[in-house]
This record gives sequence, C-alpha cells and structure tokens, in this order.
Amino acid sequence: MRIVLVGSGYVGLVSGACFAEFGIDVTCVDRDAAKIASLEAGVMPIYEPGLEDLVSRNVRAGRLAFSGDLPAAVAAASAVFIAVGTPTRRGDGHADLTYVFAAAREIAASLRGYTVIVTKSTVPVGTGRKVAAIIAEARPDLAEGRDFDVVSNPEFLREGSAITDFMHPDRVVIGLTDGSEAARAVMRELYRPLFLRDTPILFTGIETAELIKYAANSFLATKISFINEIADLCEKLGANVQEVATGIGLDGRIGKKFLHPGPGFGGSCFPKDCLALVRIGREAQSPLSIVEAVVSFNDARKRQMAERIIAACGGSVAGKRIALLGLTFKPNTDDMRESPSLVVVPLLREAGAEVVACDPEGIAEAKKLLPSITYAESASAAAEGADALVLLTEWNQFRALDWAEMKRRMRGHVVVDLRNIYRPDQMTAAGFAYHSIGRPS
Ligand code: UDX
Repeated sequence: MRIVLVGSGYVGLVSGACFAEFGIDVTCVDRDAAKIASLEAGVMPIYEPGLEDLVSRNVRAGRLAFSGDLPAAVAAASAVFIAVGTPTRRGDGHADLTYVFAAAREIAASLRGYTVIVTKSTVPVGTGRKVAAIIAEARPDLAEGRDFDVVSNPEFLREGSAITDFMHPDRVVIGLTDGSEAARAVMRELYRPLFLRDTPILFTGIETAELIKYAANSFLATKISFINEIADLCEKLGANVQEVATGIGLDGRIGKKFLHPGPGFGGSCFPKDCLALVRIGREAQSPLSIVEAVVSFNDARKRQMAERIIAACGGSVAGKRIALLGLTFKPNTDDMRESPSLVVVPLLREAGAEVVACDPEGIAEAKKLLPSITYAESASAAAEGADALVLLTEWNQFRALDWAEMKRRMRGHVVVDLRNIYRPDQMTAAGFAYHSIGRPS
C-alpha cells in the first residue's frame, strides 16, 4: 500500500516514518522546499529520540521518501493523511484550519481512484465533514461514484516518546463517515501490525473520533491541574502531595499516571486543545466549566512559580543571580512551546534578577524567545556564583547533580525544585534551603 503524509512536521514525520516501518510505502510531502531538502539529506527538523535512525533505515529500504510534489504523490496513494499544523488562531482561541482546508483543496485536485483522506491533525468537531464537502465540491466526479472517504484518525503521540507511542499505542481511534466499509478496510490494512498485536482499534463515527482527542487531552490536563491544586493545599496543611498522589493513584479508577505536580503543563497540545474545547463547548452552548477552570488555573500557576522563587529568595531577587536548569516544557524535546520557562523567566527579569540557564536540547530555540538571559553549557556552569538554583524541567542530566560541587560553585544556598526531583531531607542535610512542590521541607 502507498500512502502520503501531507505536512512533514512533528506528527507527519513521526507517523510517516512509523508507517514505513510497518512496511508501507510512504511519501512525506511539505511545501517548505528547504525542509524537504534537509530531510533528504538526513537532517531532522525536530529533536525526537530514535527518529533519525528510523527515518534513515526506512529511506535506505526504499519505503520512505520526501517530496515537494503533492499532486504526484497523492495521485499514486490509497490513503492521504492531512498532518498540517492547526495553531491557535490569534485573538479567539479557535484552532486555525487554514492549512487543513488548503491541503484538502490541493489533495482534491490530484485524487485518482478510490482514496481515503485521513485527518491526523487535531481538528474541531465537524472538520472532517467540512473536508469531505470541500473535496466533493472540487471533485463532483469523485463524489458521485463515492470514490473517496474522509476519516478521522487522531494521534496521541507524546513528544520524547512519540515512536514508542505510535508503535505501542493504548488504542487507535478511527472515525468513519457513514460507516464506510471501504475506508474501514483501508485503515485496517494500514494498522495491520497493531491488529495482530491485539491493540484495541476503536471504530467510531467521525465526530466522535474528533471529540475523543480533545476530551482525552483535556482530561489529562485536568488531572495535572487537580494534583497541582492539591499540592498547594498540602503545603498549607503540612501534607505530602507525592504520598497523596500514590494513595489516590493506586485506585484503579484513578490510575497513577499524570499525577506529578509541577510548574503547570505546557507543550503544543494541552494548552491549545483545552482552549479549543472551551470554544467548541461555548459555541455548542454546552460550556465546559471544568476545562475553563483548568485553563485559567494553569496560566496562573506558571506566574505563581515566579512568585514562589522570589519568596524563596527572601522576597526579592533584585540584583540576584538565578541558575535555571531546564527550559523546555518537558525533557527529551527541544520544544519550548507554552513552556513554563517562558512565563517564569520574564517575571524574574522584571523583578531584577539575572538569569543563567541551561538545557540539554532547548537552548537554540530558547535563545530566540528569551534573548535577555545568559546561557550556560552545563548545570555546574550555570550554578557558578548563583544565589539560587531553580529546577524547572526534569531532564535526566539534572537528576543526579553533585550537590557538594554545586554548593562550592554557588554564592547562595537556595534551591527551588519545581519537579520534586530531590528529597527534602537530603537537600537540607547537604546545607541547602530547599523548596519543592507540595511537600513538607
Ligand atoms: C500530550 C499528550 O500526552 C499526547 O497524548 C498528545 O498527543 C499531545 O499532548 P506532550 O505534550 O508531548 O503530549 O507531553 P506530555 O508528556 O503529555 O506532558 C504535557 C505537559 O504536562 C508537560 O508540560 C508536562 O511537564 C506536564 N505534566 C505531565 C505534568 O506537569 N505532570 C504530569 O503528571 C504529567
């Protein structure tokens, strides 16, 4: 089978490489000629563990190719995935579907023979039907003979573990229009290796599949915000949030994942998808008050982290040097989107602090977004002369720091651990004024 991924960004590239690994002939297309040229030269536009190897292996095997020629690729394909970006539209929080609809029009013009068009980008409920309408309008010849179907197949990939998530998903969701048997057969064939491995494959209507993606991400974001709020309460009551999380997480109905308190969630999905679901609910006159609360709580939480750091430094950071470990929104990515660091750093700077930051993969991106700070090569270089040290992202490199050395390098002895990586008793014994999230110090 031959397929095309339209859009060679994060989702398109990872999905394309993984489908190729399943033995399918894949072409990833993109209108950005420079991106295609660099992919052809084996240079990945994003950092994702294992991706470079997977891509080069499948390119060598002749199953994966990159191209700027969408019409040629689409004409030869049985399935075309739309994996273009859906940024939040400026001003109103809506997902911007310009690229999705433009891709649908371009695809329509090149379709030859029965083809399944799959939306992989996260799109508002109803978009699949709109894509179908665009194609039907552009190609009445195909619509008449039912020579195409539109399917929703949302992705649930996490940055940093996207390849494993694709190869070993908890489930695959496939939303069909009008229960199309032809589309079901194509999708079944595509995901055959997972069928054989007994992965649950859920066939639903197209609107349901579209909503599952938003509901899943908003639920996970709610879970994180819930534990963050419980962490705040623990601090007031002298309780320990990690033990609370374990205690509730052992209840199978709750589950222990996504109960790590921290500086608030970031990334390309949770903030955007929560906002989009809020809009979808308002428009349908079925407001999602819980998700609305999550959005505003999470925004406030990021700002509150700066206040926490300032309080730990005795109420003022004016003229103080702060070492900041971790800038990306989570480890194993170079992605800075909606990262707490983008809120915390400017507030610390406004309060008069000098910030020296380090991050294993994020510095190139961070330099564009946070130009007013100094960047260090390593945690110990960042700690040099610092009054306080803040752990913002839980990279493995920061999990076993040599605290005796850190103490020698630092001028002060304040440590604010916003990811609860270290133990309060050990840090206190090492001579630090240690602050963490939701735990008695
Ligand atoms: C998420 C979803 O997990 C994935 O299914 C979806 O397809 C895209 O969005 P991702 O954004 O890559 O993936 O990262 P994830 O690991 O889910 O973390 C998101 C944010 O939540 C990060 O900022 C992380 O630090 C935070 N988080 C996560 C917590 O603060 N606590 C937790 O317990 C888990």
